[in-house]
Amino acid sequence: APAGRLHWHATCCPDGHVATLHDRPMTAVQVAILAAGKGTRMKSALPKVLHRLAGKSLLGHVVDAAEALAPPRIAVVYGHGGEAVPNAFAGSRMSFVIQEPQLGTGHAVQQALPALAEDGITLVLYGDVPLIAADTLEKVCAAAEDALCVLTVDLADPTGYGRIVRDAKGNVTAIVEQKDADEATKTIREINTGIIALPSQWLRGWLAQLRNDNAQGEYYLTDIIGMAAAEGKTIRTVQPHTEWEVMGVNSRDQLAQLERVHQRAIADALMKAGVTLADPARIDVRGTLDCAPDVTIDVGCVFEGLVRIGSGAEIGPYCVIKDTEIAAGARIAAYSHCEGAKVGASAKIGPFARLRPGADLAEDVHVGNFVEIKAATLGTGSKANHLAYIGDAEIGRNVNVGAGTITCNYDGANKFKTIIEDDVFIGSDTQLVAPVRVGRGATLGAGTTLTKDAPPGELTISRAKQLTISGWKRPVKVAKK
Ligand code: UD1
Ligand code: CA
Repeated sequence: APAGRLHWHATCCPDGHVATLHDRPMTAVQVAILAAGKGTRMKSALPKVLHRLAGKSLLGHVVDAAEALAPPRIAVVYGHGGEAVPNAFAGSRMSFVIQEPQLGTGHAVQQALPALAEDGITLVLYGDVPLIAADTLEKVCAAAEDALCVLTVDLADPTGYGRIVRDAKGNVTAIVEQKDADEATKTIREINTGIIALPSQWLRGWLAQLRNDNAQGEYYLTDIIGMAAAEGKTIRTVQPHTEWEVMGVNSRDQLAQLERVHQRAIADALMKAGVTLADPARIDVRGTLDCAPDVTIDVGCVFEGLVRIGSGAEIGPYCVIKDTEIAAGARIAAYSHCEGAKVGASAKIGPFARLRPGADLAEDVHVGNFVEIKAATLGTGSKANHLAYIGDAEIGRNVNVGAGTITCNYDGANKFKTIIEDDVFIGSDTQLVAPVRVGRGATLGAGTTLTKDAPPGELTISRAKQLTISGWKRPVKVAKK
């Protein structure tokens, strides 16, 4: 959506033609994110909002949802953990405002006011409600142009939440906190999610009138709903797609629960896009996983950063794959670890392979068990099938790297390059002491320690000649006196 505009719903103009909100600039939405609560139940030195869900902090998820509205300003109210929260977002354009002591949600929003403009709409979010969807926030803000809008949800068990109180006509008249509620109010199942939006000027006026004469001695943000009703302002409510969107994290148990909900939603989207998952309950995506149709992913895989997988590729069980591109038809077998790598079409990797940053493998390359590759290119059809370290190397096409081969790329201070040209055969247990070059079509005998370039087309070998000492006897134990 263009900055500062909404595009999701249609409004009917008086002259009968239908205009979408897309056609007119929407009132700017600024965002206050409340994140000063202590998070006692996490039992953690880390502020609650910095705990991670799908590899990203809870607050990071909320900020990303807010950013979808292109708000001119975002203010984060923080309290615990020193400067850990602002430091985690160093370089961002957001304002960080400390709330000390924490005297309630209304008090928290008051602290944010100096960082926010006096006009437009203000949207209040919680830093510990990570799964809130951007389009839900768009709906809330669109309903708050000329009204106070509360995101509410009906819960089977509303215990603990603020209840939405309505009059006989169904208009919202107040939000009453659990601790201040009478028995009749406690039976109300529609609750305040905490997410509200309203014209900024109304907010400023009402916050100034908040009092803390309630059961908890706090300045409740929710008291502004009663004030709005008393002034005859319109109060609207909007609902999220699912309950999970508005669930807060108060304990590690709830964090783990939301993690699974979020992962299941990702798994469902992958399956919808044509990906086969051996078990949608056993995949973890901590970033972006972009799959062509007919990709197959076995159980227990973790994807981090940006991972792209081409059609027909297969990922075996228990692979960890980060910031990697895997081309069509490639197969990554069980227990492989790939980071910052490129895997060519129809390549076969693993089981137990390790591709490190800069591993760039062409089509039909084979990398087998206990092979580590770093900052190295392997040309089409080349193979390193067992127990090898290939670092800082350029390997041509159809090269066979024998078991136990090591590029000695590091002298303890500097790194050097190994170049292996096309059609080379490297015998087992070879050390290539870089910088060194193996010419096209050369063969290195098993056990060679190559310290000088090997000429093309020849056999180069560095091991000592085999020798048999006839009549040699093994030592025997000397008897003690
Ligand atoms: C609040 C709402 C309640 C709603 C519930 C939804 C009020 C008075 N009550 O309850 O109606 O059903 O959320 O979860 O608003 N925070 C601060 N500073 C403070 C207090 C809270 O930043 O001084 C932050 C917390 O970090 C948290 C959010 O505000 O992100 C909500 O605080 P919490 O104590 O969980 O909510 P309740 O007051 O229980
Ligand atoms: Ca809460």
